[in-house]
Amino acid sequence: MGDIGQTEGYPSAGRIPGHVAIIMDGNGRWASQRGLPRTEGHNAGAESVRAIVRTARRIGVKFLTLFAFSDQNWDRPNQEVGALMELLYRYVLGEYDEILQNNIRLTAAGNLDRLPGVVQQALQELIRRSRKNEQMTLCLALSYGGHADLVAGARRVAEDVQSGRLLLADINAEAFESRLLTAELPPVDLLIRTSGEQRLSDFLPWHLAYAELVFASVMWPEFREPQFYEAIETYQARERRYGKTSEQLPSENPRGAQLRAVK
Ligand code: IPE
Ligand code: IPE
Ligand code: MG
Repeated sequence: MGDIGQTEGYPSAGRIPGHVAIIMDGNGRWASQRGLPRTEGHNAGAESVRAIVRTARRIGVKFLTLFAFSDQNWDRPNQEVGALMELLYRYVLGEYDEILQNNIRLTAAGNLDRLPGVVQQALQELIRRSRKNEQMTLCLALSYGGHADLVAGARRVAEDVQSGRLLLADINAEAFESRLLTAELPPVDLLIRTSGEQRLSDFLPWHLAYAELVFASVMWPEFREPQFYEAIETYQARERRYGKTSEQLPSENPRGAQLRAVK
C-alpha cells in the first residue's frame, strides 16, 4: 500500500469520509482458493468486519454501512443461507459488549421481517440498547435491495398524498428521501467493494448518487486495516466537484491537498 505518513500509520490528518459504505464481496472465492467450504470464507469475513468497524470508529468515520446480505442472496442454496443467518446471530451476540462499550449505535436496513425470529430479536435488542450511542453509527444492510428501498419510499409518498399528509406540490428530494427504508442515512462519501467486482448489486441507489467509488482487488477476508487505509487514501486524492469546475472549489480543498498534507 501507499505511504500514508502518519506515525500511528493511519490517515488522521486527511479528510475522513463521514459515511463509508462497503460491499463485502469475495468470501466464497477466498474459501474456494484454499480448498475450504464457502462458509469458512464467511467466518473469515466476520473477522474483517470486526477489524473494519474498530478502525472506522477510531479514525472518526461517523457512519459505516455494511452490505451483509442482499435481497438476492435469499436465492443461494438453503445450506449457505442458513449458515449466514447463524453467523449473523453469532456476530450480533458476540459483538454486544464491544458495540455498547465503544459507544457505537447499531442500526439495520432492509426487509428484516424475512430474517429468522431469533436473529430479529437479538438484532432489535442491540439496536434498542445502543440507540443513544454517538461515536459512530454502524448500519447493517440485511435482506436489503435498492429497488425495494425505492419502491417502499414511493409507496409511502403515495400513502401520504392519499391521506392528505403530503401535498403533491411538496414532493421533492427531501420528502422522498425521508420515506426510504434508509431515511436515516446521510449520502455515502466513499463506497468500497472488494474482490475486484465493479458493480453495485442493488446497493443504496439513492445514497450512492455522488459517492466516490473505490474497488479493491482483495477478497473481503483479506480486507483489513492496511487495505482500508489505502482506500481512504485513494478517496483523499479525489476531487469532489459536484458538477462545478475545479476553480470554483474552496481553495483549501484543491486536488490531493489533504493527501500531501499528511505525506
Ligand atoms: C460476500 O461474499 C458475502 C455475501 C454476499 C453474503 P460472497 O459469498 O458473495 O463471495 P463470492 O463472491 O462468491 O466469492
Ligand atoms: C453483494 O454481493 C451482496 C453482499 C455483499 C451482501 P453478491 O456477491 O451477492 O453480488 P453479485 O451477485 O455478485 O452481484
Ligand atoms: Mg459475491
